[in-house]
Amino acid sequence: MDSIIVRGNGPLNGQIPIAGAKNACLALMPATLLSEEPLTLTNAPRLSDIRTMTELLASLGAEVAALQDGKVLASSSHGEINPVADYDIVRKMRASNLVLGPLLARLGHAVVSLPGGCAIGARPMDIHIDALEALGAQIELREGYLHAKTQGGLKGAVHEMRFASVGATENFLMAATLAKGTSVLKNAAREPEIVDLARCLRAMGAQIEGEGTSTIEIQGVDRLHGATHPVVTDRIELGTYMLAPAICGGEVECLGGRIELVESFCEKLDAAGIAVEETALGLKVKRRGDRIRAVDVVTEPFPGFPTDLQAQMMALLCTAEGTSVLEEKIFENRFMHAPELMRMGAKIEVHGGHATVQGVDKLRGARVMATDLRASVSLILAGLAAEGETVVSRVYHLDRGYERVEEKLRAVGAHIERVTGE
Ligand code: UD1
Repeated sequence: MDSIIVRGNGPLNGQIPIAGAKNACLALMPATLLSEEPLTLTNAPRLSDIRTMTELLASLGAEVAALQDGKVLASSSHGEINPVADYDIVRKMRASNLVLGPLLARLGHAVVSLPGGCAIGARPMDIHIDALEALGAQIELREGYLHAKTQGGLKGAVHEMRFASVGATENFLMAATLAKGTSVLKNAAREPEIVDLARCLRAMGAQIEGEGTSTIEIQGVDRLHGATHPVVTDRIELGTYMLAPAICGGEVECLGGRIELVESFCEKLDAAGIAVEETALGLKVKRRGDRIRAVDVVTEPFPGFPTDLQAQMMALLCTAEGTSVLEEKIFENRFMHAPELMRMGAKIEVHGGHATVQGVDKLRGARVMATDLRASVSLILAGLAAEGETVVSRVYHLDRGYERVEEKLRAVGAHIERVTGE
């Protein structure tokens, strides 16, 4: 298993290109099941989660080819589609559940394994099920699989979700594009990845209005056609690399970054004493003074502070002046990085959904373990700020969501390397 070794760093300077969004791409890829014509996604990130989705789509009968070193994904599902998404693939990645809506829309039936829990919480599927049942699907759980069917296809409906779930919004949106009549989704998620999916579906001939707001209206059409769509910039990768100069000093320009993707995050950076400037190519980030100031953070659905940047923000606040409180409102168990950061000398107390971080002058390098995707990158960021050497093991989590992290950080002057097979 690979490890990443990070040595405490001086200032970082230069540019970091930001990839296409993993979470957008994972929703866009299953959209290929909605049409017999090809769907081409450009600006795709090269990540293991994308390969898992490719494997899942192939098991359903779609063809996916990674072109241009994986940056372009050409897909087609013109042949016969298999309605069964098997546990062996679904358990690897929760986003596999995003094939449920498209399969129901295309075939009128589907059998999709429940993903099971993951390190950050139980993550049930009830909101997805309620949303698809509102469109006329009947869904039963048998032997760990959701067995979904319709009588004569999906029918448009008005539905309000109990919580603005990202995945359930995506499943509803894809299913409703081919349902008979009009569908309205209330309390819909507003994440940029939803907007990107709606844009792609529209390019495929879907009739959708209101994406990016909490009410989305979809007029069902008989068929969708092929399209080519560029994947939106990854706002989580963007936020992560914006923290690198915030932690180490220096000035880094994140290429492809846009403020509207990370507005609430930038407000917190500003309060912590970090300047973000929009440039023609992206976002330039540097510290205003020597020391970071403590800030309180509450994670919320978009446009609130993203839960996927909470661990990285905690790494920054470990060396801030004063005490910060981070409140996690999206996932029940998302502070596993805290004990690892404490091994590096951070002062953190976790009580339920709150973590109190008392800033220390310096972190010290240590051997630490990655527990999930965002936790692993927070340990790398902390390692950059620490004295001495930090060895992060179990970095396979990292490869699910960060494309060539060590190359990107090394290019701006970070002392970081990957050791294979340890
Ligand atoms: C997506 C992102 C993930 C991000 C999360 C929240 C992808 C592939 N993943 O995950 O990186 O952290 O949004 O921004 O896009 N819930 C239920 N029942 C359901 C569905 C969700 O109780 O049927 C709960 C979850 O357990 C969780 C919360 O709702 O506590 C948020 O989940 P959701 O918005 O659905 O996140 P995902 O789509 O899984």
